[in-house]
Amino acid sequence: MKNLYAVILAGGKGERLWPATLERPKPFLPFGGGGRTLIRATFERVLPLVGREKVYAVATRELSELIGAELGLPWEQLIVEPFGKNTAPAVGLAALLLGARDPEGIMCMLPADHRIEDEDAFRRALSAAAMAAEKGYLVTLGIRPTYPATGYGYIEGGEPLFETEGLTVYRAVGFVEKPNQETAENYLSQGNFFWNSGIFIWKFSRILEEIGRHLPGLAAAISRLRAHMGKDSWEEALRAAYAEAEETSIDYGVMEKADRIATIPVSFGWSDLGDWHAIWEAVQKDHAGNASFSSELLSKDSGSNLVFSLARKRVGLLGVSDLAVVDAPGALLVARRDRAQEVREIARALAAREEPDWPRLYRLDTRGMLDVVERFPEQCRESLERGRAMELPGELSGFERILLVGMGGSGITGDLLSLALPGVEVITARDYRVPEFVGEETLLIGASYSGNTEETLIAFLDGLKRTRKAIGISSGGELEKLCRERGIPWVEIPAGFQPRAALGFLLFTLLGALEGLGHRTEGLGEVFSVLTPMARELSPGNSPNRAQELARRLHGKIPVVYGAAGATGPIAFRWRTQINENAKQPAFSAELPELCHNEIVGYELAGDFFPMFLRIFLRTSYDHPRVVLRVEVLKEVLRRRALGFVELHGEGESRLAQIISLLYLGDWVSVYLALLNGVDPTPVRPIAELKKRLASEPWDLRGG
Ligand code: F6R
Repeated sequence: MKNLYAVILAGGKGERLWPATLERPKPFLPFGGGGRTLIRATFERVLPLVGREKVYAVATRELSELIGAELGLPWEQLIVEPFGKNTAPAVGLAALLLGARDPEGIMCMLPADHRIEDEDAFRRALSAAAMAAEKGYLVTLGIRPTYPATGYGYIEGGEPLFETEGLTVYRAVGFVEKPNQETAENYLSQGNFFWNSGIFIWKFSRILEEIGRHLPGLAAAISRLRAHMGKDSWEEALRAAYAEAEETSIDYGVMEKADRIATIPVSFGWSDLGDWHAIWEAVQKDHAGNASFSSELLSKDSGSNLVFSLARKRVGLLGVSDLAVVDAPGALLVARRDRAQEVREIARALAAREEPDWPRLYRLDTRGMLDVVERFPEQCRESLERGRAMELPGELSGFERILLVGMGGSGITGDLLSLALPGVEVITARDYRVPEFVGEETLLIGASYSGNTEETLIAFLDGLKRTRKAIGISSGGELEKLCRERGIPWVEIPAGFQPRAALGFLLFTLLGALEGLGHRTEGLGEVFSVLTPMARELSPGNSPNRAQELARRLHGKIPVVYGAAGATGPIAFRWRTQINENAKQPAFSAELPELCHNEIVGYELAGDFFPMFLRIFLRTSYDHPRVVLRVEVLKEVLRRRALGFVELHGEGESRLAQIISLLYLGDWVSVYLALLNGVDPTPVRPIAELKKRLASEPWDLRGG
């Protein structure tokens, strides 16, 4: 049919399909038959009738991107809502936009999450409905009930209007809400009550006319929007329009009150797959009645169960029946199938319980890491002043490169020095040896917070064989002794911190001291003006805050942090190590563009087998344009595979401010994540134990 459009609606929470919908919106679950997602099945079902270029989808931006990737629909066919507000505004928006292009056009509104067995019969019904819509009716497909369902709304059919495509079109005399059992039985026996499928067909002009009559807020919003179509002002105007529109369903807001409503009773094996029981009913089962969406189901003396594992685990069932077993990365449901309706209550109760009791969690922080992180801007500022007040011997100046030797929380200082002093080559050696090309033109910095880290000490001594320009920085320890013995300038920083929490002391004291040697860092003022308000914003005093929210998103996941080489790359590494050491859990990092040559291949199996990874992109406005493009492509790939990610942008104007603000956010996130993990962020027992074990076989520093 020439002027027939399919408009797929993909909103809805799918709470009764918890916990799968924690991971994927319902239309993206694989219950569409033949391994297809529901939305793909919806799309393919209607294609032969309307053609690819007349299929549209209405959804929020986030969902639209997913839909575009899943269906291969171009952006022009995705109608983006500023936020979800039930179906009436979505229908109004689609009718406005498509009706402006084709005023005589007819729209079928298709929920993205239904299952239909007989697709030919479905298309025949749509054709018939389009004929009726042509005559000015608002048409709904009424499903002939097969049992006295209490979970659906009903449409009451009146007198027959006409026949077309072998189907009878009836006048619809009323819509009724979900009935009780007795009423449902009555409806079934009367024969002229049909389930409301939520599939509607109407002319754009007719639905807009009825919206005008029954939803004044939406109607006014639509008429104001007309002036902004195709203009730059569209997004803002749309946001205002959505704020103004009534939040209601098209069923309730329009259909129940409108004139000239028709219904076509159909039987094409329809289900809205509202809960796990409905899914079990709709899908294929084995001889024992078990339906499985897992890599393999082994069942013994078990029947009529539904098994769904998002990670496609192997599942064994022994002596159980009529269950729904649903496995998602963060949650597991085992329910009696006949109580599937109540899953929503479980979902809501658990979501409420997941609200962290932050004040109680802060008590896990027995050694004050939160406090230290909050004072980070002060730590940096004071250190800069101390460094500036120091006088390093003039012989140290005139170096061509810096080689910083250091490990862990101290080693990162080298990466940050390199970012802060873009005019100087800074190499960080995290090893026992320094590179062979190092000579007198190099300023060697031995950085060890404790002053006792063996790799740092040994590498420092190795470096001293090659250059006389050297300084040590520590809170004391062997490094202090060594510097004193050899007359090497030693920069003292305050003791009593965890090395990783003393980054401000290490970095900013050095930056201040290097100024005296003619290396001034640009833009430090902005760094402080960004960090200081962040300290307040992200602190426990301002809870819940975005660092806490981010920690909640990461909780139970394995973060994989991505940064751009030479910029946010080292920050991604800092996120990873902070999450390791504070939150005591695995985390990984990788750099762009390199990760495009290896890491991305790992996405192929990521969704099914490794859904516990969550990717985080660290972005600044200084990223190379090709890196920006790569990130966009990576995001598309991730969306296509329904893999989640988080994108974070640095704050402030300068490159350094943006980079350090991302570092600081990561420090906060790692500490909050520790608390959500139920651990004290401060102790790093495994590191201490390993150092002790190595110390039991001492290395003769001076002779070695
Ligand atoms: C512990 C930490 C570690 C240490 C590393 C090297 O808080 O951050 O990564 O930094 O074991 O020790 P130092 O820094 O004392 O040389």
